[in-house]
Amino acid sequence: MTDQTFYGSKVAVKTTLPKLQKLKNKKLKFSVLTAYDFSLAKAIDQAGIEVILVGDSLGMTIQGHKSTLPVTINDMIYHTKAVLAGAKSALIMVDMPFATYSTPTDALTNAAQLMRAGGEIVKLEGKQWLMPIIEKLCQQGIPVCAHFGLTPQFVNQLGGYKIQGRDDSSAQEILRNAISAEKLGAKLILLECVPTELAQTITEAVSIPVIGIGAGKHTDAQVLVIQDILGLTHKPARFAKNYLAQTNSIQAAIQMFGDEVKNGDYPKAEHSFES
Ligand code: KIV
Repeated sequence: MTDQTFYGSKVAVKTTLPKLQKLKNKKLKFSVLTAYDFSLAKAIDQAGIEVILVGDSLGMTIQGHKSTLPVTINDMIYHTKAVLAGAKSALIMVDMPFATYSTPTDALTNAAQLMRAGGEIVKLEGKQWLMPIIEKLCQQGIPVCAHFGLTPQFVNQLGGYKIQGRDDSSAQEILRNAISAEKLGAKLILLECVPTELAQTITEAVSIPVIGIGAGKHTDAQVLVIQDILGLTHKPARFAKNYLAQTNSIQAAIQMFGDEVKNGDYPKAEHSFES
């Protein structure tokens, strides 16, 4: 975390969306980690990780559910406030939980609550139907990250946590949705579990930063779930990497993840999927 002096007091230099955009423009990578509480948010912030995601993955990692579906808007507000207390520099991105953004009006009411709690951008999972919702939130000053590919809130429809965009028509659909989301004002795209080549095509097709998880090495940024990098996940996904196994502290593990993303050392082919 870097500090700057403002009227004689030291203040943390804040990561903003324009700063992330500049990193993409300069072809510099940035990193994102999930956090749901004060202590880990502080550790992530101090390691200089640019973005903290208050992910609805907390339904699984914190609450012990089998999916993210039971997570409520009040759960997200509670954890966003806890993260806000620890994050001085990192940008705070917050997931809108399952079925809280089915209409533009619902989305606005619920996203506003997350922003009041300390969120600086909200993340929404979906497809083409998401477009009017993205447009509405952006018009009202609520920045949006559009999450495409494997969208865990749709696990029942998808029939499991499966790689998406493997065939030509579904790959084209994900590409089209990313381009539309940018046109409607989205500030970030997140791609989960899609082939490396598709993620590369999308990263080059849009001018906003693309964050990947299980999407190969070409995206502008990488996100992982904090429990995965600390070796706390019983059956880790292919894209997960246990950084605590190679370091001697939580702080060093977080730092190593950030460094590897910046240097392009993570992810490797073994963490990625092909068509
Ligand atoms: O909720 C979450 O942690 C996420 C990441 C897996 C991207 O959405």
